[in-house]
Parts: sequence; C-alpha cells; structure tokens
Amino acid sequence: MKGILLHGGSGTRLRPLTYTDVKQLLPIAGKPISEYALENMIDIGIKEINIVIGSIGGEEVKRYYGDGSKWNIRITYTYQDKPLGIAQAIGLTQTFVKDDSFIVYLGDNYLQDGISKLYQDFISKKYDAMIALVPVTNPSQFGIAEIKDDKITKLVEKPREPKSNLAIAGVYFLNPNVFGIISHLKPSWRNEYEITEAYQEMIDKGMNIGYSIINGWFKDTGTVDDFLDCNRLVLDRIKGNQMKEESKISGRVYLGENVRLLENTRILGPCYIGSNTQIKDSYIGPFTSIGANCNIENVEIENSIIMDETDIKMPGETRISESLIGSKTSIKPNNSRQRAMKLVLGRESKLEL
Ligand code: TTP
Repeated sequence: MKGILLHGGSGTRLRPLTYTDVKQLLPIAGKPISEYALENMIDIGIKEINIVIGSIGGEEVKRYYGDGSKWNIRITYTYQDKPLGIAQAIGLTQTFVKDDSFIVYLGDNYLQDGISKLYQDFISKKYDAMIALVPVTNPSQFGIAEIKDDKITKLVEKPREPKSNLAIAGVYFLNPNVFGIISHLKPSWRNEYEITEAYQEMIDKGMNIGYSIINGWFKDTGTVDDFLDCNRLVLDRIKGNQMKEESKISGRVYLGENVRLLENTRILGPCYIGSNTQIKDSYIGPFTSIGANCNIENVEIENSIIMDETDIKMPGETRISESLIGSKTSIKPNNSRQRAMKLVLGRESKLEL
C-alpha cells in the first residue's frame, strides 16, 4: 500500500494566507495540518508517500517534509503545474503507484480517529475503490453519496435537494485501475478533472466500489471557520506538559521549549504555545494555538491561531477572538499623538475592529 498526500489546489477560500503560504502547511498546535494526515498513513504501516505539490509553495513543502527520513519513511514529490482537479493530481502519480493499491489523502483534511478502521475495511472487502463517508448536517455543501441496498448508486456534487447526508471525506482508498478511468475524464464545468466523476464511472461500469462510514470527527479545513474548528478539535485532545509556571496556568497547556510567561500572564487551556515565545501582561484563553518565536503583550486572545514569529502588543484592553493571524505579522501601538491608525495590509486582509 502506498500513500499520496495532496498539497496542490488554489486555496482561494483561505486567502490572504494562501497568497504566500501553502494551505496544507498552515499550523494547528505547532504542526502543519497535513502532518496529521501523514501520521495517520504512517500509523497503518505506509512507508512510501508521494506528495503532490502545486505552484504555490512547493519548495516550502519539500523543505518541510524532505526525503521523509525524519518519519522513517520515503517521501517523493510530484509536481502539478496547474490546479486542474483532484483526479488530475491523482493521475500524475501513476508512475509512483505502479501496481500497488494506494490511499489518497487531501492534505487539508483531518480525521480525528485516524484511518485504521477504514484501511481494515478496504483490505478485508477487496474493493476496487473505497469511499470514506461522513454524516453531515449541511449536505448541500459537500459531494454526497446516495446509497441503495448497501451500495453507492450515485455521487452528487453539492446537491440542491440532497437525498442523503453522507458526505465524501477526503481520504480515498484505490486500486491502480482508477488510472484507466482518470485518463479519459473530461474537465467539468469548473474546468477541473473531478474525482466524483471517476467514481461515478466506476459505479456505472459495475466495479466493486465500497464505502465505510467515519464515526469520529472529520474536518475539511478549507475555510477560516473550519480551520478554527479543527484547531478546537486538536486542542481538545492536547496533553498538558507544564512543569513550571503552574500558578499562571490552568487546564491543559502544552508549552514548547523556552517559553517565557512574564508578569501578569494567565493561560487557560486547552492551549498550545510554541517554543521561544514570550507572553507578558496577557490572558490566553481556551482553544488558542500560538506559534514559535512570538512576542505577545497586553492582549487577551482566545479561540485563535497565531502563527510563528508574530508580535502582538495592544494599546489598550483588547480581546482577539476567532482569528487566524499569519506568520511574521506585527501588531503594535501607534505612538504618534494623532488619533489615526497606521496599517500595512495585504490584498484581501480582513479586519473587524
Ligand atoms: P479544494 O479545497 O477543493 O480546492 P482548493 O485547494 O483549490 O481550494 P479553494 O476551493 O478554496 O480554492 O481541494 C481539496 C484538496 O485537494 C486540497 O488539499 C488541495 C488538493 N488539490 C490538489 O492537490 N490539486 C488540485 O488541482 C485541486 C483542485 C485540489
């Protein structure tokens, strides 16, 4: 069994962060979201993983994952020069997959309970392809599977009148015969080669397509709200490690190396604070991930993700909530006497003041 981990796509819904950063490398509790997927694949014994990189930040992905030796596996890369769809990305990996069965994991999808049950189902039932399905409350926003007599009969992208609430999750179990189907797919109305169309063709041809239902939490982190939800899910299970500073901390808080909690600081977990970060005169509330090498002063933060090397110092009492703040951002008081704000904001920045 081999693994494919997708890091392509445009990430338009996570702009402006994705103008410069690869969305699958955006951090939750100090780790890129895609590393959770990588660990899930390693947990079921996969030793060879091919990462599909796109035109945004491919080199950054290579720098982070390297040749895989850090995880004791072999990682190689495939370049997708345009984001022409998941099916196209999979098609490009044929020379890596060869005759093996394989898993495709979307690098921005998170399955809290891993994939070992799904893997067991796929192996024991000898499917040509197996789709992981997850019950959702808003089926019109997902690719949905219709099921009759325990078989998938139809896959519909974002149905206006959904006939089921079972959404297709971003982890696919496949055999190499999918490449024959992908090779003659036509682009859809949105000019993408759609994996749902490949599956539909396999169903129509009578191939053995199974499904397995995910019971634990599943999250597609394509939007800011979903990313923050996923942060909550991950932090909900975080183990505290603090040995010192206990008077400043309540609840489960993970502190990286050399974190300095200076005067008037309170931290209420679950939280993650990255190494070398300094916090002063601040309250850090539940469900906050703060990256490494940050300076945080005179602010209340909760339910948010602050990425590496960011400095925040507020002029007065301010609470930051439900926010995603990219790396190397600087927020500081304006010391001039004018009652004016000084802002340097990139395209599509969002401020709610
Ligand atoms: P999506 O989130 O559906 O698409 P996107 O990444 O282009 O984002 P947006 O809709 O906000 O513009 O992609 C799902 C996953 O598949 C994601 O991890 C990126 C990956 N992907 C590729 O690797 N190649 C592709 O051509 C596409 C479309 C997606």
